[in-house]
Amino acid sequence: MGPSVRRENEMKKLWGGRFKAELHETAKRFSYSLVVDHELLGADIKVSMAHALMLGKVGIISEREAKSLVKGLWRVLASIKKKTLCDLLHDYEDIHTLIQSELEKKVGKLARKLHTGRSRNDLVTTSTRIYLKEKITTVLETLNQFQSALVTQAEKNRNIMIPGYTHLQRAQVVLLSHLLLAYVEMLERDKSRLLDAQKRMNECPLGSGALAGSSLPLNRGYVSKLLGFDRPTANSLDAVSDRDYVIEVISSISIVFMHLSRFCEDLILWNSQEFGFIALDDQYSTGSSLMPHKKNPDMLELIRGKSGEVYGNLMSVLVTMKGLPLAYNRDMQEDKRSLFASLRILLDTLTVLNGTVRTIRVDQAACEQASKDSFLFATDLLEYLVKKKVPFLEAHQIVGALVRHALDSHTTLGGLPFEIYQKYSRVFKKDVFDLFDPRVSISSKVSLGSPKPELVVKQIRLWKERLKAEAKRLKQAHHRGQ
Ligand code: ARG
Repeated sequence: MGPSVRRENEMKKLWGGRFKAELHETAKRFSYSLVVDHELLGADIKVSMAHALMLGKVGIISEREAKSLVKGLWRVLASIKKKTLCDLLHDYEDIHTLIQSELEKKVGKLARKLHTGRSRNDLVTTSTRIYLKEKITTVLETLNQFQSALVTQAEKNRNIMIPGYTHLQRAQVVLLSHLLLAYVEMLERDKSRLLDAQKRMNECPLGSGALAGSSLPLNRGYVSKLLGFDRPTANSLDAVSDRDYVIEVISSISIVFMHLSRFCEDLILWNSQEFGFIALDDQYSTGSSLMPHKKNPDMLELIRGKSGEVYGNLMSVLVTMKGLPLAYNRDMQEDKRSLFASLRILLDTLTVLNGTVRTIRVDQAACEQASKDSFLFATDLLEYLVKKKVPFLEAHQIVGALVRHALDSHTTLGGLPFEIYQKYSRVFKKDVFDLFDPRVSISSKVSLGSPKPELVVKQIRLWKERLKAEAKRLKQAHHRGQ
C-alpha cells in the first residue's frame, strides 16, 4: 500500500463512514482547499489545543489524554511545517483534516477524541478569527510604520511649499508636509476601522458545533478565555454561518487601498516632468524596454492597479454570502482565498510604499517655482478685501475681474500695475503686492487645520508622539499574541 493510498483510507475513516465510494478525483481537486487554508495552520493548532484542554477539564476525556493531545499537536505543528505543501495538496481536504490525520500518526487512536463536541464549521470560523486577530495587529503595525515614513518626510521637508490643487488646477499654496499629513489622517481612520473589526470579531464560536451546539457538557467560556476572546458567541447558528468579519476586514482594506491609490496618483504626478516636484529613487523605479531615457514609477502604478484586485475580493465575498440560507454552506470556503490575498497584497504594498516614500527626493527649486504662480494668491486678494469690509461676493467679483484683466493682457496677477488694482477697487493699497509670496500666504492662515507653518509643525510633533505610543502598544499586543 503506497503512502497516498494509506492516507486515502485514513481520510475515509475520518469523515466518510456513510460512503461506499471515494470522492471522484475531479471532485477532490475541485473542492479541496488546503492550497489556501494551510495559512490557518498555527491558528487551527492553537484552537485544537484549547479544545483538548477544555475536554480534559470537563471530564469528557481524561486530563492525561488532554495533555497527550496537546503534546501531539505541538509535534504535528513541527512536522507539517517541515513538509512541502505540494506533497499534501491532493491527499487532504483541508487544514483541519490534515492536522487530524497527522495527529493520529503521532498519538494513535487517542487523536479520534479530539473532534468531540465540535465540527469543522465552528472550528474553521474560530481559527479564521484567531488568525485574523493576530494578522490585523501586523497590518496595524505596518500601517503605523508607513505613517511614520510620511511624518518623517513631512518633518524633513517642513519648509517646502507647493501649489495645492482642486480639479487638478492650481488652487492655493500649501505646505508639502500638510499634504503628507493629510494621508496620515486618512490612514489613522483606516487603522481605527480595522481595530474596530478586530474588536467585533473577538467572540469565540467554538462549541457551536455544526449549527446547533452540543449535548456534551462543553465549557465554552473556558475555551474562549484560553484563546484570548472576550466571550463565547451567543447564537450557534450565527456563529457558524456569518462571515461579516471577513467582509469588514476586506472592506477596511479596500478603503486603505482607495487612500493608497490616491497617494500613488499624487506621487506619479509629482514625479512627472510636468510637475517635477519629486524624484523617485532608482530602487523603486523601472526602465522602458524601448525608450532608454525613461524612468517609470511602476511600483506606484502597480499599487494603483492592485486596488482593483482588492475591490474584486470584497465583491467576491459579498456575492458569495448574499444568497446563503442559514447555517453553514460550503460556498463559504471561498472566503479565505479573497481574505488571504487581500491581506498579502496590503502587506506587500505597504512594504514597497514605505521604501518608496523614505527614499523620495524633493526638488525644492521646482516646488518654489510652482508656488510663485501669482494666480495661487487670488483667494488671498479676496480675503484682503473682505478684511477691509468689502462684502464677500463683491470682493469675488473684483478679484475675478482682475484675473480676467491679467489673462487678457497676457500677464499674471502680480504683474498688473497698481493703477489697475485701483481701477477695480479703491480699497487696494500698495501693500497688496506683499501678498504675492507663498510664505506670506500660508503664514496668514489662522483657521484650525490650515497649512500655517506653526500649526503644521505642531501636528508633526503630535503625530510623532502618537505613532510612537501606538507602535509600543501594538508591539505589546503582538507579544500577547493578539
Ligand atoms: N474547508 C471548510 C471551509 O473552509 C471547512 C468546513 C467544512 N465543513 C463542511 N461541512 N464541509 O469552509
